[in-house]
Amino acid sequence: MLKKKMLKALNDQINAEMFSSYLYLSMESYFQSISLSGFAAWMRAQVQEELMHGMKFYGFVNERGGKVTLEAIAKPESAWDSPLAAFLAIQKHEEHVTDLINNLVDLAISEKDHATNNFLQWFVSEQVEEEASVAEVVEKLKLIQDNPSGLFMMDAELGKRVFTMPATPAT
Ligand code: FEO
Repeated sequence: MLKKKMLKALNDQINAEMFSSYLYLSMESYFQSISLSGFAAWMRAQVQEELMHGMKFYGFVNERGGKVTLEAIAKPESAWDSPLAAFLAIQKHEEHVTDLINNLVDLAISEKDHATNNFLQWFVSEQVEEEASVAEVVEKLKLIQDNPSGLFMMDAELGKRVFTMPATPAT
């Protein structure tokens, strides 16, 4: 059974993951609006990944006998000055999410909730991966700057990303 404080923190994280999904959906729309369909496809995969993260938390709370309580999702930004500006915003957001996950781990440890700590370790690794993949795009966009052919090549590369649902998405 989840303790009250842990349950509240996990419910908050469901909201944070849903917000991430909403933010990236807004970015997908931004990239569609500037005709960068490969960037938009990358974002769509990111949207699905964040939904999967939220559902993992949802499944875990249920499995531990907790009650999921959904709150309103905040309004995301809807425009960015450039693809680089958008990816810098993603980078900042993912660093924030990493902080949230680390705080959850700290709480699980202080509450002696080993099961939640064990569950969270998947997210600790996931955040390393997420930050690395975003950093790679940021660095490439910095190299490209305003070079249109570089941007089109990058669009083609990012468009290859496909989201694959893990075998056990619920937990
Ligand atoms: Fe759910 Fe991008 O962290």
